[in-house]
Amino acid sequence: MSLINANYLNLPGSYLFSEIARRVREFSAANPERKLIRLGIGDVTSPLPPSVIKALHKAVDEQALNEGFRGYGPEQGYDFLRAAIVRDAYQGLDIEADEVFVSDGAKCDIGNFQELFAGSCKVAITDPVYPVYADSNVMAGRAGPMGDDGRFTGLIYLPCTADNNFVPDLPGERPDMIYLCYPNNPTGSVLNKEQLKRWVDYAGENDSVLFFDAAYESFIAEDGIPRSVYEIDGAKEVAVEFRSYSKSAGFTGLRCGFAVVPKSVRGKAPRKGGGMNAVPLHQLWMRRQTTKYNGCPYIVQRAAEAVHSPEGGAECAATIAGYMRNAGRIRQGFVDLGLTVSGGINAPYVWVRLPEGMDSWGFFDSLLRGAGIVGTPGAGFGPSGEGYFRLTGFGNAADTAEAMERLKTFQM
Ligand code: MLT
Repeated sequence: MSLINANYLNLPGSYLFSEIARRVREFSAANPERKLIRLGIGDVTSPLPPSVIKALHKAVDEQALNEGFRGYGPEQGYDFLRAAIVRDAYQGLDIEADEVFVSDGAKCDIGNFQELFAGSCKVAITDPVYPVYADSNVMAGRAGPMGDDGRFTGLIYLPCTADNNFVPDLPGERPDMIYLCYPNNPTGSVLNKEQLKRWVDYAGENDSVLFFDAAYESFIAEDGIPRSVYEIDGAKEVAVEFRSYSKSAGFTGLRCGFAVVPKSVRGKAPRKGGGMNAVPLHQLWMRRQTTKYNGCPYIVQRAAEAVHSPEGGAECAATIAGYMRNAGRIRQGFVDLGLTVSGGINAPYVWVRLPEGMDSWGFFDSLLRGAGIVGTPGAGFGPSGEGYFRLTGFGNAADTAEAMERLKTFQM
């Protein structure tokens, strides 16, 4: 037998959403007559926009022709998509098309990007947090074992609770790598420009790199909330940004996202003879992707290109408006029950504070049994998520309305 990467043994038994799926499967098998309303994992329910479908058909038809057939594509994405992204999403922000790396989704990019850094780097995550940031660093050996308090002993936690309005304080100890997700999954909170600038400045002053997950930027409704970290001065020197078509355009099954890696963001490596050399992350990420990845499929990239067309953009906006109506309805439903909620205004997630003393997995089970509603227990996102519960606006409108009706008669 060969030695395994024992860091994997430090992980929780299963990935959060796999554990939820398992519990739901068991419940459904025992109660086949119950109609469940699934507002747990943030998976979209509306079909792909017509412009996307049209682009997919066209790209598929091209594959039947000698002159249209495509084999291996550029690992970092076709020029047509990289140019469309910069034109549509980064206008005026001084991002070059060759700083955009197209991929099969933000989850993979975020999980993989940490590979560019030394095992000894200190990592800061918000708490609660999208589990991929923590788990991928556990696998890489940066997090160490989990302590009795439910925290990995090697990670720096930045608690985000109702007490600080879900806005993390700067860390007391210097991290090398900082993960931020805004609009936030799971709390649905946002940072204004001033709040995000504090983080960009902190990263600059402390030689840290910022991983900015902007997967939910298209859900921002209010003015003054940055959609990209590059709206902040200095971010091009310290931040890598991740974006996804999953929630904004319904690509959870199709798979496409991208990372923006400005050439000016650098790490360091020991120089022969002493001292340190600065190394652009762009160069390393290019080397990593060309070695381990063969690129997002051509037909999917054509579909993503359509999202950046005026018609595609308008179709996506209409779908997003529907999800946000759901989120607003969920938010109101919990407010009417007298509970404190965050999110549902600039993000598709509604984060509910449970009544005092109620634990989040216990609430998950009783909501499933009592009302047939699937949500996500806050504790699954980290210890500071205990006592909270997340529901998503990604269900269809009728199911969401029915869930809120069921909630009215549900005994907490
Ligand atoms: C979530 O529910 O948090 C997301 O759907 C997970 C993901 O995007 O991978």
